[in-house]
Amino acid sequence: MKECITVAVAGFGLRGKTYSEFEKLSEGKMKVVAVADIVAEKVEEAAKEYNISKEMCFTSAEEMLKHPKLADVMFVTTQDRQHVAQAVKAIEQGYDVLVEKPISPDLEECLELQSKAHEYNKIVTVCHVLRYTKFFEIIKKCIDSGKLGEIRTIQAIENVGYYHQAHSFVRGNWRNSIETSPMILAKSCHDMDILQWLMGKRCEKISSFGSLSLFKEENAPEGSTDRCLEGCKCKESCPYDAEKIYISDKLTGIRHGAKWPCEALTLNPSEDRVYEALKTGPYGRCVYKCDNDVVDHQVVIMQFEDGSTADFTMTAFTEKCSRQIKVMGTMGEIIGDLENNIIKICYFGKEAEIINVNEVTSSSTSKLGGHGGGDEGLIRNTVDVFLDNNPENNLTSIDASVHSHVMALAAEYSRINKGTLVDLTDFIKKEQYKEL
Ligand SMILES: NC(=O)c1ccc[n+]([C@@H]2O[C@H](COP(=O)([O-])OP(=O)(O)OC[C@H]3O[C@@H](n4cnc5c(N)ncnc54)[C@H](O)[C@@H]3O)[C@@H](O)[C@H]2O)c1
Repeated sequence: MKECITVAVAGFGLRGKTYSEFEKLSEGKMKVVAVADIVAEKVEEAAKEYNISKEMCFTSAEEMLKHPKLADVMFVTTQDRQHVAQAVKAIEQGYDVLVEKPISPDLEECLELQSKAHEYNKIVTVCHVLRYTKFFEIIKKCIDSGKLGEIRTIQAIENVGYYHQAHSFVRGNWRNSIETSPMILAKSCHDMDILQWLMGKRCEKISSFGSLSLFKEENAPEGSTDRCLEGCKCKESCPYDAEKIYISDKLTGIRHGAKWPCEALTLNPSEDRVYEALKTGPYGRCVYKCDNDVVDHQVVIMQFEDGSTADFTMTAFTEKCSRQIKVMGTMGEIIGDLENNIIKICYFGKEAEIINVNEVTSSSTSKLGGHGGGDEGLIRNTVDVFLDNNPENNLTSIDASVHSHVMALAAEYSRINKGTLVDLTDFIKKEQYKEL
């Protein structure tokens, strides 16, 4: 067993940075030794933070991959459509890989990476961070104990949050499905993954509806300008006003020290720098006047192999960014609220047990990233998997992840085709995914 794994980071953006930070918590188990990003300042920042030598700094992942293997593992944390080409090359050079989700919006690419991992006998972890939260760990253990009987139905809601939708899916990186991914994959492949994992069964049939209803030009209120800072007359009444979200809001505004989402606008955000970004960059645009096409609400209904069912709703139109879930078994139910980190377990005929997940985790509060402790859980577990070279403990291996991508893409296919019922076997066999 190795004592320390060395890491080459491809894409030192928000995610690359988050996982790299684990070096400081890892007690010598992980060391970042190489970095690549197309933005020179990001490479400089990484080099300074992790003491990376000049020869190990690169202007792109492609440049870095021209060199023979530089580290044990590569973190592929670039954008959605770049992952597979970079990860495949990394595997061919002998790296184990941590790759961000979605693996790719192209199912053939997902399968290509899966078969490459097998061919070269390499470990590939996909960053489904939710599986590593205490919240979902408790729910999964309860289901697997069998005490709820047979799980017949799961209902799940993803509350994206009005400000998160505006930031990421209207103004930001994931606004356009052609450039990155459709919403159900970009945001909700986590949820497809959680549903198949909790069920412990394969999904067989899917149907889905949804649309982009609000964030389009025809809904722009009278008096609105192309940019929020250009004298828009609707600022006061508009919850999506960029100045409100990025400057003054208590949760997301730079005035209150919010790192996310301000770090997506500019490096080392300050009030002046954020204002500058709002004047010139994409995040200052009116939400009704962007080049976005991804949905703002979508519902998916699913049937699993033994006839059990699940339904999932993703919606932009919520105050908070969080998730809720209800698991219904023949002998009991679970109601989970990730926002408050509360789980209620009721075995029929007995008094319900309420678990405050914050209390259970208080001794080991997450120090890194977000997602209810999932970011830290994922990187902690994955570093151990790489160190031990033990794929058995890889909770979110590429094999475990691909089915969630099939589900998400089948849902998108259904949505585009007016909610048509999609058989997942046919979806692959008849190559329906190619029509996406
Ligand atoms: N697991 C999760 O919960 C989660 C959450 C958010 C985002 N993501 C995913 O993580 C990935 C990265 O998202 P992010 O928020 O960090 O985005 P980001 O834009 O902050 O980071 C991407 C980085 O890649 C760099 N880059 C682009 N082309 C490159 C190239 N050829 N070589 C090297 N670097 C290159 C960019 O300059 C940028 O710094 C996306 O695929 C996204 O969908 C996952």
